[in-house]
Amino acid sequence: MSMTETKIALITGANRGLGLAIGRGLAERGLHVVLTGRNQSAAEAAAADLAKDGLSVSAHQLDITDPASVVHAIASASKRFGRLDVLVNNAGIAIDRGQLASSPDFEKVRATLETNIFGAWRCCAAAIAEMKRNNYGRVVNITSHLGSLSTMADTNVAYRVSKAGLNALTRVLAAELAGTGVLVNACSPGRMNTRMAYGETDRTPEDGADTPIWLATLPDDGPTGGLFADRKPLDW
Ligand SMILES: NC(=O)c1ccc[n+]([C@@H]2O[C@H](COP(=O)([O-])OP(=O)(O)OC[C@H]3O[C@@H](n4cnc5c(N)ncnc54)[C@H](OP(=O)(O)O)[C@@H]3O)[C@@H](O)[C@H]2O)c1
Repeated sequence: MSMTETKIALITGANRGLGLAIGRGLAERGLHVVLTGRNQSAAEAAAADLAKDGLSVSAHQLDITDPASVVHAIASASKRFGRLDVLVNNAGIAIDRGQLASSPDFEKVRATLETNIFGAWRCCAAAIAEMKRNNYGRVVNITSHLGSLSTMADTNVAYRVSKAGLNALTRVLAAELAGTGVLVNACSPGRMNTRMAYGETDRTPEDGADTPIWLATLPDDGPTGGLFADRKPLDW
């Protein structure tokens, strides 16, 4: 398959954790994966690691809180490969552990929303414009069960609100793009032992990567416009 026929995926925060595991999984399925990181050398190190195993990957700097960086990374990938098929909005922060809504630290709230909602939203807007050119696209927003309205609880308020907002954004975009060939979904990977999880679980990022990889490669006749975990629509 020539590079012009190969599907091109771009993943945010792919230098480590879940993003890197999704990158490996998609490259193993034959996609070319642009591993992005806010630190260029960290993205390059991740790409070098996967390339050693013969996988088709490249690296690009991308800080999702920087509008110029988002536009530049997505335009560069689209121009270099002639298309953009998959966006995985994986980059995220969780910096308000234990924080209650009644005593907010608005600096942390603002930083969390800037990354987890506005950052992902910016990437969606830039990538969807490219995807619409080919009437094909798969957007996968990595959310969390902590953002579920039906099981909402206290603590980690900024993170919870940011992921609930990301879920809403997912549904709004999916509704807007119905029938265009661009599918927008979200899934929670479940708890995984990454830097974000404080070592409180034995599940690996590879365990969490399964559903995002499935959604990123969803066939045209697959489910659309919902939020998924364990391959079933969630009542979020
Ligand atoms: N771990 C869990 O148990 C769990 C559970 C549910 C959902 N999730 C979600 O899964 C996703 C991945 O998390 P993870 O567990 O793999 O966490 P992680 O190991 O902390 O990785 C987070 C990634 O996001 C990147 N990032 C943060 N801010 C960024 C920005 N402004 N621009 C670009 N990249 C940025 C980080 O880059 P740096 O290396 O530069 O910091 C890193 O690559 C997140 O959306 C998280 O909310 C995780």
